[in-house]
Amino acid sequence: MKQADKNIAVLRGDGIGPEVVNEAIKILDVISEKTDLRFNFNNGYIGASAIDKFNHPFPDSTKEICNTSDAILFGAIGDPKYDNNPKAKIRPEDGLLEMRKYLGLYANVRPIKVYESLINASPLKANILDNTDFVVFRELTGGIYFGDKGFDNKNNSAFDTCRYTKDEIVRISHLAFKEAEKRRKLLTLVDKANVLETSRLWRDIVQNISNEYKNVEVEYLFVDNAAMKIITNPSHFDVILTENMFGDIITDEASVITGSLGMLPSASIGDKISLFEPIHGSYPQATGKNIANPMAMILSASMMLDLSFGLKKYSEIIEKSVSDALDNGIVTEDINKEKNYSTTYVGSWISERVKKLL
Ligand code: IPM
Ligand code: MN
Repeated sequence: MKQADKNIAVLRGDGIGPEVVNEAIKILDVISEKTDLRFNFNNGYIGASAIDKFNHPFPDSTKEICNTSDAILFGAIGDPKYDNNPKAKIRPEDGLLEMRKYLGLYANVRPIKVYESLINASPLKANILDNTDFVVFRELTGGIYFGDKGFDNKNNSAFDTCRYTKDEIVRISHLAFKEAEKRRKLLTLVDKANVLETSRLWRDIVQNISNEYKNVEVEYLFVDNAAMKIITNPSHFDVILTENMFGDIITDEASVITGSLGMLPSASIGDKISLFEPIHGSYPQATGKNIANPMAMILSASMMLDLSFGLKKYSEIIEKSVSDALDNGIVTEDINKEKNYSTTYVGSWISERVKKLL
């Protein structure tokens, strides 16, 4: 008899999403076989593939699957046929945004970690990158993404509104402070308080909360300045806390300096359920070619084991197996142009390694 059943919603999505999700499932299956854990996978549609099938990017059947699961594994969404069509009525991205709001996934956590064997792939010099290891807490269900917006055909104008409530800022701030306590104890609030009212609210609230975390040093950086510092002195940062739009931009910036977009996982934390997805997108040019890097997805599954199920031991085994794959040159073409392996080969290699280490 298996001791603990975990129900996992599996939303493969578009492009390379399905291929990388399959590799993460290989790893979870190995853990299931060798332990008394059992993972049940419930498949749902999202994004462009859901529009094709249900004419909706986040259909009811997928909502139901998410509502009855313990965690969500998410591949990627997006399809070029929507990107250059500003008049498209439904978009894959709408499904993602609706899902975040519907499930209350309010904190997007993106660890930015540099792998020794990939330092030369970074656009930054190795000495600048040395010791870079930080994590961004991006607010995910508020701000300009979700404020009032509209077109005014008469005046040929359009508007998007950025609005934040105190509660929205408080809950993610506590998560970020708690993380800082476990790390180097430096929290950087990134905002634009010299211009924006919402940023002044963030500063005020974070200043107040900081009284509860006396051992955490807090600094405040304007987002333009932070964008420079992520390039010129990335090892300075420990925990960055920021609102939705700034977080979107600086996490893309932060992810490329590691030289390994295909390596970076993320978690979107909610009160009831959390979602785990790679930072990279649907990479349509690689779809079906068995060349996509599955490591970010595999590491996202590892974050799920730790954060949603409290199985840190297994999450560490997965991380070790991924870094063993890197050290042995078992990598996809994004990491090594000359000598590389397929998505399925890399996934199988890592799952064999996990099996050995369990
Ligand atoms: C991300 C993506 C999304 C965002 C898009 C696809 C809506 O860029 O997850 O960072 O802007 O949040
Ligand atoms: Mn983004």
